[in-house]
Amino acid sequence: MKLLTVVGARPQFVKAAALSRALDRIEGIEELIVHTGQHFDSNMSEVFFEEMQIPKPAFNLAINSLGHGAMTGRMLEEIEKLILSEKPNMVLVYGDTNSTIAGALAAKKLHVAVGHVEAGLRSFNMAMPEEVNRILTDRISDHLFCPTDTAINNLKKEGYDNIDCHVHRTGDVMQDAAIYYAQFVEEKSHVLKDNNITEDIALVTIHRAENTDDPKRLNAIVNALNHIHKKLRVVCPLHPRTRKIMDKLKLIPEFDLIDPVGYFDMIALLQRSKVVLTDSGGLQKEAFFFNSPCVTMRDQTEWVELVENGFNMIAGADSDQIIAAFNQMIDASPDFSLDLYGKGKASENIASIIASC
Ligand code: UD1
Repeated sequence: MKLLTVVGARPQFVKAAALSRALDRIEGIEELIVHTGQHFDSNMSEVFFEEMQIPKPAFNLAINSLGHGAMTGRMLEEIEKLILSEKPNMVLVYGDTNSTIAGALAAKKLHVAVGHVEAGLRSFNMAMPEEVNRILTDRISDHLFCPTDTAINNLKKEGYDNIDCHVHRTGDVMQDAAIYYAQFVEEKSHVLKDNNITEDIALVTIHRAENTDDPKRLNAIVNALNHIHKKLRVVCPLHPRTRKIMDKLKLIPEFDLIDPVGYFDMIALLQRSKVVLTDSGGLQKEAFFFNSPCVTMRDQTEWVELVENGFNMIAGADSDQIIAAFNQMIDASPDFSLDLYGKGKASENIASIIASC
């Protein structure tokens, strides 16, 4: 079994780290990693490969900083060439980015099986590029590795019982990564010391296009965080996209901005968080893995089970709503022992399905 794994954006490195380790343990599976280059700053990319010991990419396409069409189109062209030369049995893609749809489409057109890790998620907001990417990727995938029951049900509602593909409930590989890498954090992470973090914080990330590309929303988020920072120290490792836009709009954050951090530092920050405020999909789950309530600064989430069970509140991008949700979640103490994501067995499950293909 020769696998071509396509990754390109930060959260995909985390997911691939977990699955690559499981694949490596199975004899007869050869995995080649293609990095599309979508994320290219060393603190958005290299650091993950190094500290998570992900096998070095066999190919780096260095495609980035382009509009959606140009980025996806160039990736499609280059991945197609690689599939033709490497002749994999399966192309593995992750999540919902432009790298995901490009990898899946290139493979499908060449009649190579597609495996989609994190299949079946929906925000039901077609204005998000991620929603378009994930719906199209699911539809052309042969193996849909679903992290949750919600994901399975979403696919059922879309008629996947009658589509020629295999839908698997596997659990979430991000929980596998969280459990495995947490054991090294104390030794490897210096972020708390470097930033003089000695008490609880509110951990914040902002990078979604729906927030960064709408000045009204971004302004409202910054205002809410300025207010919250007066009560609880807000620490925000900032995506380069958001930093550029904040500078352009001359928004003045009064909370602590730091450069994007690697995975060990992120876990250290999560362990110190009393509450997480984010528009990231992955961080909503990581908050849960590390026992922090979460406020989601979006209008919907793919991880509805977190909301239904009181771990997460959807606040949109309205200052008052964000502050109200923060005030409510700071005192929340839901039962974090609930098993929503498979408790660290997802990679093993996916690897053994791949091995049996
Ligand atoms: C992408 C994904 C999103 C995912 C996110 C994780 C798409 C459509 N979106 O969004 O689903 O949640 O990654 O972070 O694929 N940039 C840098 N340095 C980098 C990376 C990006 O400066 O290392 C800049 C780019 O030049 C660009 C902007 O950030 O101007 C946006 O990058 P892009 O890859 O288009 O999307 P993300 O916002 O990262």
